[in-house]
Amino acid sequence: MFKQARWNEPLIFNLGKAGRVGYSLPKVEDTVKKAVGDLNTLIPENMQRKKAPKLPELSEPEVVRHYMRLSEMNYGVDSGFYPLGSCTMKYNPKINETLASLPTIGMIHPNQDGSTVQGILEILYRLEGWLAELTGTDEVCLQPAAGAHGEFLGALIIRAYHKFNGETDKRREMLIPDSAHGTNPASAAMAGFNVVVVPSDEDGCVDVEALKAAVSEKTAGLMLTNPNTLGVFEKNIEEIAKIIHEAGGLLYYDGANLNPLLCKVRPGDMGFDIVHINIHKTFSTPHGGGGPGAGPVGVTRELCKFLPVPRIVFDGERYRLDYDRPYSVGKIRGFYGNVAVLLKAYAYILSMGAEGLKEAAEVSVLNANYVMHKLKSVRGLTLPYNSEKPRKHECVFSAKQLKNDTGISALNIAKRLLDYGVHAPTIYFPLIVEEALMIEPTETFEKEELDRFVEAIHKICEEAYVNPETVLKAPSNTAVQRLDEVKASHPKTMTLSWRMYLKKQNATNP
Ligand SMILES: Cc1ncc(COP(=O)(O)O)c(C=O)c1O
Repeated sequence: MFKQARWNEPLIFNLGKAGRVGYSLPKVEDTVKKAVGDLNTLIPENMQRKKAPKLPELSEPEVVRHYMRLSEMNYGVDSGFYPLGSCTMKYNPKINETLASLPTIGMIHPNQDGSTVQGILEILYRLEGWLAELTGTDEVCLQPAAGAHGEFLGALIIRAYHKFNGETDKRREMLIPDSAHGTNPASAAMAGFNVVVVPSDEDGCVDVEALKAAVSEKTAGLMLTNPNTLGVFEKNIEEIAKIIHEAGGLLYYDGANLNPLLCKVRPGDMGFDIVHINIHKTFSTPHGGGGPGAGPVGVTRELCKFLPVPRIVFDGERYRLDYDRPYSVGKIRGFYGNVAVLLKAYAYILSMGAEGLKEAAEVSVLNANYVMHKLKSVRGLTLPYNSEKPRKHECVFSAKQLKNDTGISALNIAKRLLDYGVHAPTIYFPLIVEEALMIEPTETFEKEELDRFVEAIHKICEEAYVNPETVLKAPSNTAVQRLDEVKASHPKTMTLSWRMYLKKQNATNP
């Protein structure tokens, strides 16, 4: 059983004493004055800070110990198993972090003259080419900062394509399967489309007959995840592509689940016109935790003209940024995206090579099917949507039976798993599975770790039948016990910064 460090650690604002310093630097005024002159005359009056900010005053060891203790109360992908479905929480090689933080990368500025940043432009240009090759598209834009941002760009490109063909007013409907991630309908709606939901069939795939009934001359496109969020490969993808294209629509690939397909099969070859990639899942940056990430978008030849500006172009000798694209949807992000994240992807692809990526994909599928097979015998859990069918990168179990029998829900299982030293899987998603437990082991955990997870699930579901109280009060061994879920996420009670905390305190005790 796992025991997490538990420190009674105050906020940093409640530590230290007035006058304590972490590090002594020469007086800024003197150094700056010598170099550039009097700051008071250099910085315009309205931009000068009159009062020093109220920062905590601590010695260096106090700061180090504070953050060390907080880290000991934390759990991350480097601590242990992290089967958060649809997030691909795999180990990210540390060498790629080191490369991304080299001063030659970290110290360059996007406003530098193009002649001084030829190296990074070459890296980004080559990465675009590799991602195009991996996805089977013709050109890739690296700018979007996340998967949802890539989806939004994809939806804007679909809109631009129909506008170019004089069909903006006609093609207002975006088709989206009921298994889709919530960002798909949100992105489509933000780009001005009406969302039409397509149901899944008994295998968990798009119901082709329902799709045929839903397409019309109003169809702008279909947004599809393959393998979908049940971990099931859409076996009818070629027929689906034909249906959408014959109706005059475009096919969008949500690449959040690209990991199990790398170097095996390419979305472009399946008939997709637009593809986004979650770099912060598949290519060496962790998902979750709020970023930064990157969601590059690849498109087929006829859609290249709609890609955001600037595009990196190479004239055979030099790289430059090209803004002269009259049909471009415009700018989607400041400068050229999250370059450090993109650099990690470059280093990852370079070090893995095609064979390494293919092996990663295969092992991710093997691991998911191993775990799925081992969990099929757990009392109270079922595997909806054709339990005989193999899955790709993840599998989605339902704890509905367990809840009916014992009152123990998917949420309770997730909480109890923390006591076993395992991060919880994603729960209650996809929405089409009641009491869903969405498990994605990834390729980076050994068999022993997978077995420990399987054993923990077996034990928890046994506990549910014989000793449900233990499960209901879990977690007991973690730094923070069960949170009030509503309070933790309600805008009225959520306190995200010290300033917010002080504001709320002042409002309650004026
Ligand atoms: C299937 C799917 N699509 C899209 C997204 C959105 O990606 P992001 O969180 O980078 O915006 C996710 C995120 O987990 C996802 O699982």
